[in-house]
Amino acid sequence: MAWSWLCALLVLSQVSAISLPIQNRQDADARNGLKCKCYEGERCWPSVGEWKALNASVDGQLQRVLPLAVSCYNTFEGVATYNADKCAAATAGFSSQAYVGNDPVYAMNPLYTNDTCLPTTNPSASCTQGYLSDYAIVATKERHIAAGVKFARKNNIRLTIRNTGHDFMGRSSAYGGLTINTHRFKDVAFTAKYKGPGGYKGSAVTVGAGIQVGELYKLAFEQSPKVTVVGGECATVGFAGGYIQGGGHGPLATLHGMAADQALSFNVVTAEGDIVKANADENKDLFWALRGGGPATFGVVTSVTVKTFPEVPSAGTILDINSTHTTDPAVFWKGVEAFHAQANHFVDNGMFVYYVILSGSLHVQPLYGPNMNSEKLLKVLKPLFDDLKAKGVPYSTSTKEFPTFYELYMDIFEPEGAGSDQLTGGRFMHRDDIAANNSGIMEAYKTALSPSPEFPFGIVVGHIVGPGYGAPSVDDAVHPLWRKATSFSITSLFPTAANWKAAKKVQTEVVTKALDEAAPKGGAYVNECDLGQPDWQNQFWGSNYPRLLKTRQKWDPEGIFYAETTVGTEKWAEFGEPPRLCKKN
Ligand SMILES: Cc1cc2nc3c(=O)[nH]c(=O)nc-3n(C[C@H](O)[C@H](O)[C@H](O)COP(=O)(O)OP(=O)(O)OC[C@H]3O[C@@H](n4cnc5c(N)ncnc54)[C@H](O)[C@@H]3O)c2cc1C
Ligand SMILES: *[C@@H]1O[C@H](CO)[C@@H](O)[C@H](O)[C@H]1NC(C)=O
Ligand SMILES: *[C@@H]1O[C@H](CO)[C@@H](O)[C@H](O)[C@H]1NC(C)=O
Ligand SMILES: *[C@@H]1O[C@H](CO)[C@@H](O)[C@H](O)[C@H]1NC(C)=O
Ligand SMILES: *[C@@H]1O[C@H](CO)[C@@H](O)[C@H](O)[C@H]1NC(C)=O
Repeated sequence: MAWSWLCALLVLSQVSAISLPIQNRQDADARNGLKCKCYEGERCWPSVGEWKALNASVDGQLQRVLPLAVSCYNTFEGVATYNADKCAAATAGFSSQAYVGNDPVYAMNPLYTNDTCLPTTNPSASCTQGYLSDYAIVATKERHIAAGVKFARKNNIRLTIRNTGHDFMGRSSAYGGLTINTHRFKDVAFTAKYKGPGGYKGSAVTVGAGIQVGELYKLAFEQSPKVTVVGGECATVGFAGGYIQGGGHGPLATLHGMAADQALSFNVVTAEGDIVKANADENKDLFWALRGGGPATFGVVTSVTVKTFPEVPSAGTILDINSTHTTDPAVFWKGVEAFHAQANHFVDNGMFVYYVILSGSLHVQPLYGPNMNSEKLLKVLKPLFDDLKAKGVPYSTSTKEFPTFYELYMDIFEPEGAGSDQLTGGRFMHRDDIAANNSGIMEAYKTALSPSPEFPFGIVVGHIVGPGYGAPSVDDAVHPLWRKATSFSITSLFPTAANWKAAKKVQTEVVTKALDEAAPKGGAYVNECDLGQPDWQNQFWGSNYPRLLKTRQKWDPEGIFYAETTVGTEKWAEFGEPPRLCKKN
């Protein structure tokens, strides 16, 4: 199997080398045992009239895609595009998650657009499509999404679902075809007493697909009485898109479980273009799968209803160990090890911790204690501080308390940027891994920070989070081992489009390998992962995979939706340059 796959690849690259007429490319693909999506220029591509008809059916919401910083260039595809003011706005906005999030298609991690058409001060440089789609529907109604899905299906066009563009692995952008943008679905409705399917009678909120975590936290805080939701650490991540469908961890996840565990009902546009509900009464299999089974796999979610919880008094501590405190690597690593050794203890107290490790610097902001005041939090942290002292590790720290989670969140959690090329990996660690092999995990961290001579500089973004601590047992698609996790770390390397392939090899063969070996009882997280993760089906979903695969085969047998390393995509891959999505027969 592997060999014929490889041969097809070789044949395909030779075929493109002798530049076969694009119109007939599908015939050559078929001879090579591939069925590819239809791309612009091929005979199968819809006519101008058909695109016009699609535009009419979506109330004029169809756009020809333009790269984010197109106005910094004199021309794009032969059309004059330069505009100094717009270029200045795009240049400033390029590193802002809010600005990029509002673009119909652009990715927060530009690597996955192939670094195309970056902001520049040289307007005569060339701006190309890169890995962006041709058209985007900026949907404002469910029937716009349904029309887009049906059009893509009928014409065999690559379909990409895009909410905020946050996906670290670029799954919300792709070369060619049609993007459906869900970012305009901004309706939110809170209820004090949920009356829908499933028997739950507490408070809840229905959240439109375009709502971002920070918006939801704010609205929840404005309710009377104030409530909270399980959302991400990052304010601009979309709530109902990739985040909840992949599982969703965050500051309140130790206390209540994953975001997906809180879901009561989804509204979904299916691969058939039908608008359906998925909950405890209707389409139960879809309901199960949407809660953690991965993004862009079972349908386009237009809204989700989740449980809300009462606000809680909250305390947070900041901890730093860096060159201000020590320049001795041995002392520094003693400190990091002492800190991470507390993961199980922190989770056993309902906590969430967010930290960043760069060479010689550990920045923890915050160690968050829900349902705690400063005194209580400092008591829980005492073993850590005692250990640092005993080991002679200097550090600085400060602690604050707040009446609510929201006030703590706004004060202590730090905003993040966009616009840097990153290649990620990640692993959640089982509590037994921490207990048995914390020093081995430290070795893996060191590898992640400096994996190879070509990529001497990486970072670790860590979370101490234990979604099994306070969660009622929910039967959903979230990897069962998440319930035993107490620590989840993301790693990043910083390549460019030019050395991307070399970086991927290092990421998988050096960094991912090191983390997998150091925490063998854990797993990986589809939303924050290495696309080269070996055994990804099992690493992302464990024993849930077979049931998820059956559900995918029922709801999207033809592969209308696609995102790399998601359920049921084993026979699909991208080929050639630019990369076309094809299925092996
Ligand atoms: C800075 C940063 C911080 C993060 N913090 C956290 C965190 O605290 N906790 C956590 O769990 N994760 C976190 N993530 C990861 C986050 O969960 C994923 O990036 C997630 O995929 C984002 O979803 P989105 O819809 O906002 O993004 P997008 O990039 O728009 O979409 C992500 C994926 O979901 C699909 N998708 C989008 N909308 C829909 C929809 N309506 N229906 C079906 N599929 C859809 C897309 O096709 C794509 O495959 C973070 C990511 C970043 C970049
Ligand atoms: C779709 O229609 C709207 C409104 O008429 C128009 O502004 C837009 O340019 C059209 N899109 C395309 C791709 O032609
Ligand atoms: C993507 O980037 C690579 C490396 O810079 C380049 O060789 C290739 O032509 C680019 N492809 C597209 C479609 O932009
Ligand atoms: C080290 O930590 C202190 C806080 O104690 C901070 O003010 C300083 O900027 C940090 N230095 C570096 C190099 O990160
Ligand atoms: C501990 O981690 C190291 C890697 O740093 C690994 O080689 C070893 O197998 C791990 N041991 C256990 C018991 O998991």
